[in-house]
Amino acid sequence: MSKKACLYPGSFDPVTKGHLDLIRRACALYDTVYVGILYNPDKTGLFTPEERKTLLEKELEDLGNVKVVVWDGLTVDLMKKLRVKVALRGVRNSADVESETAMAWLNRTLYPEMETVFLPADAGLAHVSSSAVWQIASFGGDVSA
Ligand code: PNS
Repeated sequence: MSKKACLYPGSFDPVTKGHLDLIRRACALYDTVYVGILYNPDKTGLFTPEERKTLLEKELEDLGNVKVVVWDGLTVDLMKKLRVKVALRGVRNSADVESETAMAWLNRTLYPEMETVFLPADAGLAHVSSSAVWQIASFGGDVSA
């Protein structure tokens, strides 16, 4: 069981600069960073999981220690499959801390050996979300920043 690997689970629909910043910082902390594309029942899917994987891999191609995987089950089951005990999540504000803590409790109830590590979002990207990026793009706005 590697202690130097983590899983960063999310829906990444689409991947944002906030996600990419977090993955790059995680790659400096862990030997291997698995980026897991999972299903979030609270969100309507936009890109297919395979399209999200392609986008992520294109953005991360310069990193040697990141692997992108698609999974249609529970986060904890993917962690068990990958033999990873750390789940990484980014937090942008106090609302994120609250919801992410609830998810961390749920995941630890299902898999008591795991831990969730929170990384604060980059201050300059804390306002960025997939849904905002999608909404701006859908009205023809510029999402390059
Ligand atoms: O990027 P998101 O949408 O905030 O990521 C949420 C995600 C996909 C990590 C979460 O919905 C999830 O873990 N989905 C898989 C199903 C699961 O394990 N649910 C239990 C935790 S609430």
